[in-house]
Amino acid sequence: MEGRAALSDLDDSVRVSAVHVPTDAREEGIDRIVIGERELQDKLLELGEQITRDYEGRELLLIGVLKGAFVLMADLSRHIRLPLEVDFMAVASYGAATKTSGVVRILKDLDHDLEGRDVLLIEDIVDSGLTLNYLLKNLRGRRPASLEVCALLKKTGIQRVPLEVKYVGFEIPPDFVVGYGLDFAEHFRNLPYVGVLRPEAYGDV
Ligand code: IMP
Ligand code: MG
Repeated sequence: MEGRAALSDLDDSVRVSAVHVPTDAREEGIDRIVIGERELQDKLLELGEQITRDYEGRELLLIGVLKGAFVLMADLSRHIRLPLEVDFMAVASYGAATKTSGVVRILKDLDHDLEGRDVLLIEDIVDSGLTLNYLLKNLRGRRPASLEVCALLKKTGIQRVPLEVKYVGFEIPPDFVVGYGLDFAEHFRNLPYVGVLRPEAYGDV
């Protein structure tokens, strides 16, 4: 298909599987793939095994931060071999812009009571860290037995607050990325890899 040819110019490590033929025309806005599909899935298996070992004999409550963590939550949870429950929280830290506002609003709160629970917070990406910092403070106040964080991505060296993220999938440079749950103006969340947009793409959505 015309336009799709550009994908073959991308790095060899990039895996766009045969069954996943990109159907969304917006995909043509991707400049390069930062983490390919295979690399992502391998890492999730590794994280799932680590979490399974660390929480052996306990029952976990996974909290996904919507919307960005919905894909990670679905894939990672299936690699955790423990009895677990899931819950979601929706927060807004940005509007359609690509820079953090530092303002976090809870749009949807949890259904579960956290008191005495082993809680693992699932985040798509830690950028400035302001969202996570706010969430951790908020959740600690609900007196869980333990509270740790698993983030798929962490941008290197730009956190504005000190944070402990126990499980990190990948450290990446501080570029704005989309895919695998991450959006630009609500688009691109369904890409099975993490990529960087072409500058022109910012104007298109
Ligand atoms: P922080 O508060 O600056 O750490 O940003 C946290 C939230 O902003 C993340 O959970 C994402 O929803 C969003 N975000 C941060 N960086 C990116 C990015 O590169 N692409 C897409 N969304 C991002
Ligand atoms: Mg967003």
